[in-house]
Amino acid sequence: MKTRNGMLPWQSSSSGNDLSVEGGGSLINGRRTAQVYEAFMGLVTLGSYRSFVSREASRLRPNPKDRAVDICCGTGLLTRALARSIGPKGAVVGVDASEAMLDAARSHSLLPTAEAAAVSFILADASRLPLPGESVDLATMFLGLHEIAPSARLPALREVQRVLRPGGRGLILDVSSSIPRPLLWPARVALIAMEGSDAWNITDPGVPALLRQAGLRQTGRRAVLGGILELVEFSRPLKREPLPPASV
Ligand SMILES: C[S@@+](CC[C@H](N)C(=O)[O-])C[C@H]1O[C@@H](n2cnc3c(N)ncnc32)[C@H](O)[C@@H]1O
Repeated sequence: MKTRNGMLPWQSSSSGNDLSVEGGGSLINGRRTAQVYEAFMGLVTLGSYRSFVSREASRLRPNPKDRAVDICCGTGLLTRALARSIGPKGAVVGVDASEAMLDAARSHSLLPTAEAAAVSFILADASRLPLPGESVDLATMFLGLHEIAPSARLPALREVQRVLRPGGRGLILDVSSSIPRPLLWPARVALIAMEGSDAWNITDPGVPALLRQAGLRQTGRRAVLGGILELVEFSRPLKREPLPPASV
């Protein structure tokens, strides 16, 4: 499935240097964070994040030849789960702006290619994906959007709209725009303490509103972690519709 330079067929090449992007992600996700990230996620979710990610990758019910992009892939937990769920005839590319996170992702062993889709990882900013238009069947972004600078979130989702084929589907996990009232302040304090006030701004206007503005259609929405997070399913409409003006 891979070409001679190790890229999947529908990828163009990307630079091998660190990216300088706005927002908390690339600043905080250095080597040490990358090494402990999965253990940290296990700790704060009482060991449930890995199985949650696998379950959601299966629930997507990918087709065997699907091509998927996992944006803000971090250490590749979801990328690998997607590869297993799609199977050996498909392909998955993980995209992240942190070389350290990508190094950690590459170091994790993958299932033999007989069982999983071909996986590759590329360094790129979410708002400039090095993938051709309409080349992807599935797009995911778990816990990435709040790390992107507020002004770059809509451009990132418009990139998702560009690379997804008409009818292509996606799944975003991020901080909910309707956190239950008793959890609102604890969640706000915790997120701002860990990632700064820009991260908290994801709750306004929130993932569903941003998806609409990016020309993507919400097809489902579920509360996760007592409603602190939300999982939003979407698709790219079959018919091209004019994009609403960018008002965020
Ligand atoms: C909290 S981690 C989530 C990783 C993974 N999706 C998961 O669920 O475990 C967020 C990731 O987003 C990446 N990121 C932040 N801003 C980005 C941007 N503008 N473009 C691409 N990746 C970005 C960070 O480097 C980090 O690896």
